[in-house]
Order: sequence, then structure tokens, then C-alpha cells
Amino acid sequence: MKLPAVQKAVLEAASTDEAQTIAALAEAVDELPETVTGAVFELSEAGLLAVDERIEGTATLTDEGREYLVDGLPEVRLYEAAVEAGATDSPAPMGAVVDASDLAGPQVNIALSNFARKGYGTIEGGTVSAAPDADTDADPEAAALSTVEAGGDAPADVLDQLERRGLVERHERTVRAVTLTDRGVTELMAGVEASEGVDRVTPELLTSGAWRDAEFAEYNVEADAAELAGGKVHVLRQTAERVKDVLVGMGFQEMEGPHADAEFWINDCLFMPQDHPARTHWDQFALAEPSEIAELPADLVERVERAHREGVGEAGGGYHSPWTEAVARGVDLRGHTTSLSARYLSGEQVGELEPPQRFFSVEKVYRNDTLDATHLLEFFQIEGWVMAEGLSVRDLMGTFTEFYAQFGITDLRFKPTYNPYTEPSFELFGTHPTTGELVEIGNSGIFRPEMLEPLGVDADVMAWGLALERLLMLTHGFEDIRDVHGTLVDLSFLRDTAVVY
Ligand code: PHE
Repeated sequence: MKLPAVQKAVLEAASTDEAQTIAALAEAVDELPETVTGAVFELSEAGLLAVDERIEGTATLTDEGREYLVDGLPEVRLYEAAVEAGATDSPAPMGAVVDASDLAGPQVNIALSNFARKGYGTIEGGTVSAAPDADTDADPEAAALSTVEAGGDAPADVLDQLERRGLVERHERTVRAVTLTDRGVTELMAGVEASEGVDRVTPELLTSGAWRDAEFAEYNVEADAAELAGGKVHVLRQTAERVKDVLVGMGFQEMEGPHADAEFWINDCLFMPQDHPARTHWDQFALAEPSEIAELPADLVERVERAHREGVGEAGGGYHSPWTEAVARGVDLRGHTTSLSARYLSGEQVGELEPPQRFFSVEKVYRNDTLDATHLLEFFQIEGWVMAEGLSVRDLMGTFTEFYAQFGITDLRFKPTYNPYTEPSFELFGTHPTTGELVEIGNSGIFRPEMLEPLGVDADVMAWGLALERLLMLTHGFEDIRDVHGTLVDLSFLRDTAVVY
């Protein structure tokens, strides 16, 4: 039979009775281990080699472990200094023993606790007594440090202890033992020739033109490859970028603005009465420092106050509830990014805007919620609005349908709801891919005249706030938002999850 040169060499180097590791075979045939791994997989698939895989635990010394290997374990050094100081006969002052031991900083505490644990002596009332019969030369942890350094097998319980002390790190690796199968023997006896197949493109191959007639070996794209776990953008951040791309593709421009903002922009501009329950510390995080924002546009403040007190338009009523500028100046972590929409719509951020306009942001918001599977104290909101003449709820539904379709979500449901600043308003739902439950993914509506008129906008504005984490729940099937955020997130999830396009 014909085989590529490396496979032929590996086959010839393999033996029926003596299992060999990839490393040993690589040395025997003088090729890179990854090249040999590829050849071994091909040969085992063809039934010519047998591969036995086993997970092997190994250990290596940490920097601290290596230091103790050279200088001795701190508790051993303490014992030696104590013996020097005569502490086997009568207790010696601890300060003097520690000084003589040359231990410094955190090593003193490490020495003291392990000294007692190992029965090298006792520490009492500022004195040290050394056990006369302690044998520090036989210290199993010291012995294990040397064994690990030499690449040998130290007892598992001692390794556990050294790992707890941060002196060794343990790793797992797959060891492959390769043997020749009966079929392999038969083929070798019948004669194996190296095929002409070219497995890599070389400069000679290119310059001589020989590549034209060369027969290229096939690549096995399914073979194991070395795993590279480099730094990577978090999947949530990647999805945020993807959302931005989609919205820019739909003609939107990005808004930006402060995370901590005046209540004026967060609430008052949205026609939220100052005694609204959502404006208490039960819901929002207020900042003590700075306690207020000095600069608010005076004419806008006046118009917003009038809307709150008297309402807007002929039939306007207003809230008749207390309204003070002091409350409007208070600083909160924004509970929604609709504060940005208020800033942009008012002309405060980028000047007066003429319709049509489309703006968005994908930014963090903060809420004093109770942490559970679907709520976090901070999350990313996908804010957006469209300013145009004659907008209707149909336009809003159409925009969402188009947006979510980009993420493969085509089963949106809409439900009427209430917001102080929109009328009509509706919530959006999608179906969870594994549980089949309806998940709320956003809130939206058409801004009320009581909000728009004081801001100086006389076109229609439809707007929304969608939750980025909920979008991710639908695209990736998470049931708990804490699988995506925070310290409990699985590392392999962060490494392996693909962003949905
Ligand atoms: N601010 C709303 C929220 O946080 C979302 C929203 C924005 C609703 C704009 C309507 C219009 O839930």
C-alpha cells in the first residue's frame, strides 16, 4: 500500500508489543509531535495502529514552591532556628527565634502555622518550644517538592496539601499509547511505499513550478489540534457589538451619555411625576456625591415643570403633585438609557434634530432589583427611537420584526402595557428555545405629547428599551442570566460560545 511519508515512518516505528507515546514516536521519526499526532490519527482510522488514551495528572512547582525547594520550607527553617536557640530544652523567645531563622513578611505566619500542624513544636505566650524528636529531614512535603521538580510521582495526599499551600499546580493531559495492530503488521509485511503526496507548500515547490503536477495530501480538519485559550471579547460584549452593527445597518446613529445623571434627564423629562413610586430608593440608586447637578438648561426646566404641573395641550391636566428643581438636580445611576433619548431629543446633546431621525445605544443601566434568574442589578439596555411624521404602532412592530429577525428570532409577541411617557405602550416577548416559555425581552411605545412638547419636538417619536441579556437568553438558550454575567460563569462557555449572526 501507499502512504504519505510521515505515516509510513510512524507505522514502521510502531511496535505490536511495546506501546509508545506520541512524544517517543516523534523522536523516533524526527518529526514534530503535532505532525505525528495527525499521522497517528490517520493510521488508527485506517485500522493500522491502535491508540489507547489515558488522562494523566502532572504537577509543577509554583514560584513559591521553587523558592522553598532551594531555601527550605519556612516551618523547617523555624524549627532549625528554634533548635539552635535551645528550644528543645526550654521555651525560647519567639522574636529571637524568628530573627535567627531569617524568615520575613508573610513567611513568618506560614512558618508558625505549619510548624504547629506538623508537630515540630508549640508556640505559647510569645515563646517557641521545639519537639526534640521531630525529624525535619523526613518532611514529606519537602520530599514531594523535590519529587515534583524531578518529574516524579509524589503521594496524592501530600500533593493535595501542597496544592492548598499554593506550592504546586496540578494539570491534566491526555497521554496516548500507540501500538501496531494485526492489520498494520500485515500491511507492513506486504510492503508499504511512500506516496508522492505533498503535505506542505515549500518555496522550492513554488519557484520550480513543481506544485503544478504535485499531488497534495488531504488535510484532516477533524483531527485534534492544540487548544489555544487566549484572551477574548466576552460573548455579551460581542453580542452588543453585533446589535450595534445591525442597528447601524438599519440607519441608526449611536447615542452616548453619562451613567450617573440628573434625575431631570432620567425621570422628569419623561413626564414621570416626582412622587412616582419608581422614583424612590427602592428602585433607583442615588449618589451621595455629587449630591446634585449644577447645570440644567433653565428654559427646558421651566417647560418640563409646567408640563408636570399643568399638563400639555388644551385638555392638559398635569399631575398637580409636588415638583421641585432640587429633586430634578439629584444624581442617580441611570435606571434606563431613556435618559440619553431625552438628552438627544431635547437638542441638549447634539443640537436641534429635524425629522426623520433614528438613534440607539447599547449601554449599561442600574436597578435596585432583587437578584434572581432573570434579574440583575445592572444590565445592558438596547435603547432606540425613531422621529418621523405619522408614526404608528405598526412601524414599531415592523422595526422590531426586522431587528430580531437578524438574530433568528421570528416569533415575537406583543402585549399592551403602561409607561408614564408612552401611549400606546407595549411589551415584547419571545419564546425561550428550550423551555418554550414566553420571555419578556423589551418595552416600547410612542412618546406622549406631555414628554415631547417641553423637549421641543413636534414630530412623532416611537421608542424602546430592550434587554441585551434577554436577547442572549433567546439566542443561546440560557435559563439563568447569571450563566452569562458574574463570577459563576463557566470558563469553557466563555471560550467556546459562538455569537449568533
Ligand atoms: N425605559 C423603558 C424601560 O426601561 C423602556 C422604554 C423606552 C419604553 C422608551 C418605552 C419607550 O423599561
